[in-house]
Amino acid sequence: TSTLMDDFNSSIDIDKRLIEEDISVTSAHVKALTKLKVISKKEALTIQKGLISILNDNKKGKLKFSKKNEDIHMNVEFFLYEKIGEVAKKIHTGRSRNDQVATDTRLWTIKASKVLKNEIKKLMKSILNQALTNEKTIIPGFTHLQVAQPVSLAHHLIAYLEMFKRDIDYFDFCIEKTDENVLGSAALAGSNYNLDLNMINKNLNFTKSKNNSMDGVSDRDFCMYFLHASSLTAIHLSKLSSELIIWSSNFMKLFNINSEYSTGSSIMPQKRNPDSLELIRSKTNSIRTKSLEFSNIISNLPLTYFKDFQEDKRIIFDCYDELLSCVQVMKNVIMKSKFEKSIGKEICNNYFATATDLADYLVIEKKIAFRESYKIIADIVNYAQKNNKNLSEMKIKEYQKFQKVIDKNIYKYVDIDNSLSRKKTSMSTNPKEISRMIKKYIKYLKV
Ligand code: ARG
Repeated sequence: TSTLMDDFNSSIDIDKRLIEEDISVTSAHVKALTKLKVISKKEALTIQKGLISILNDNKKGKLKFSKKNEDIHMNVEFFLYEKIGEVAKKIHTGRSRNDQVATDTRLWTIKASKVLKNEIKKLMKSILNQALTNEKTIIPGFTHLQVAQPVSLAHHLIAYLEMFKRDIDYFDFCIEKTDENVLGSAALAGSNYNLDLNMINKNLNFTKSKNNSMDGVSDRDFCMYFLHASSLTAIHLSKLSSELIIWSSNFMKLFNINSEYSTGSSIMPQKRNPDSLELIRSKTNSIRTKSLEFSNIISNLPLTYFKDFQEDKRIIFDCYDELLSCVQVMKNVIMKSKFEKSIGKEICNNYFATATDLADYLVIEKKIAFRESYKIIADIVNYAQKNNKNLSEMKIKEYQKFQKVIDKNIYKYVDIDNSLSRKKTSMSTNPKEISRMIKKYIKYLKV
């Protein structure tokens, strides 16, 4: 191969990250070959020692990876040859890089999913903490970014706990699907050696082996699951970051971002910009493109292995690195920043957030049909807006101009706190339901 091709074809700069997985896989394979007496016990000992010494060299940063040796598999074989000589030439018996790389990548994906799950849990703990300190903080719930109805800030935050819990479930699904050992598939047709697959599975912590060798070397669905789970986590993070950016604006002031995670302007001395959140928003949007990029690579490929698959690692590694940093930064932003406790209630008052409750007052206490009461309250809100009043500032006489039967009880429905406890359904912002959910998450997150 030409040097231009060596450079083009080589994946070592990227897949050297698989060195630990690759060595575990080789070590398990050598044990199976030893059981078959293809490799003697003495040779096996030499090989295993050689592999351990490569791992140590790697930890010390002593390994010199070479592009001429193409990828991590050939590099490790070469390092082993340098250490133990001719015996190293036996390790690739009865296997192929096709089953080897798929197995390495599966092991990495399971490991990465577990790390991400753990980091998402830490983020959830920081959200839960804010929910605990803000059970009684009232904010306006929005639809169309317009003030809709009062909710507890904890209720709003628990919505994110639900999202991130689904992400954890998705990573669990990814782990379950990735937990299939490909070794024994060899190039595509299966191995000519009766490798003890149960033994290999035990060694590598796989629950089972692949059912079909051709599917084994060409199945990259597990990468798609990983990218999809990451995409959804990214979507949830971008929703949260957009929201907090809006909440931290001078006009809303619901969220006060910690100065460690915001930056100033080079010219405007008064500024504090939510850069951390803006970067999370842009990075998470780029994470979402990765599942599309990879599905383009694996679409339209006949069976079985193609070099196209080599690109999987670049994509899943990038996805992991970016997502991990976004989750960690978001965790710290939430942990260190403050939600403003009083401003939300004021916004609710100024923007008629309990108008729905008033409509229900007429239904419940005065037996007026909802469409009718809706119209009456809409007229009242219009009147209040024109006269620069909020609902609690309206006199009872003013209310009665719109409907004679209205009495003083209406003020109970104007009250913001009452609005929350008036909610009856299990998923509502009723304080009782919120403390039930908080308890549920304290248990789930083992706080
Ligand atoms: N570096 C390759 C990859 O990542 C390993 C498999 C090579 N197999 C082959 N038949 N050329 O996919």
